[in-house]
Amino acid sequence: MKITFITSNQHKVKEATGIFHKFGITVEHVDLGYPEIQGDLRDVARYGAQHAARRLETPIIVEDAGLFIKTLKWFPGSYSSYIQETLGNQGILKLMSDVNDRYAEFRSVIGFCTPKTEPKIFLGTVKGHISYEEKGEYGFAYDPLFYPEGYDKTFGELKRDEKNKFSHRRMSLEKFALWYHDWFKDNMR
Ligand code: IMP
Repeated sequence: MKITFITSNQHKVKEATGIFHKFGITVEHVDLGYPEIQGDLRDVARYGAQHAARRLETPIIVEDAGLFIKTLKWFPGSYSSYIQETLGNQGILKLMSDVNDRYAEFRSVIGFCTPKTEPKIFLGTVKGHISYEEKGEYGFAYDPLFYPEGYDKTFGELKRDEKNKFSHRRMSLEKFALWYHDWFKDNMR
């Protein structure tokens, strides 16, 4: 079984390859830009998936993710990419400097689409809290800021295999993989 994953993020490709391996799915990576509309993660994933599937004329997945911080009214959320490039992790830590409630979630939405069907989405979430300083050399972007619930290490301190066991992306990709098994049987054989 194979799926085409449209992304420009190599970290996501590596994570997805590790996760899909257990489900017997091979990842074919295509770095094709697609329009990211204004909206929540679901809207972005739906629109992007449909656009890419029509363009490549094959079934594909895209993924849209974000960090949601409760005390900041779930900011940066769907602005995570822009905020990572502008404020960065130090900017987030500054915004949180005298905040006690540090609850946050990572969310990931997989959008699957074929050239002829409507998009389908799969949501994954991991709960946790924001650190007081950046920690760890692994991972990418917000990983050094995020302590997953029940862990005393940030995502930035966890190797990929460890993060892949329970991350937001693990949850969304796993939901997709379980559904895709049946879909593939019915549509691609
Ligand atoms: P996007 O899904 O690529 O649009 O991600 C939005 C922003 O969140 C980007 O800055 C990503 O680098 C960041 N991001 C997405 N997933 C993760 C993750 O698993 N860890 C840390 N940062 C992430």
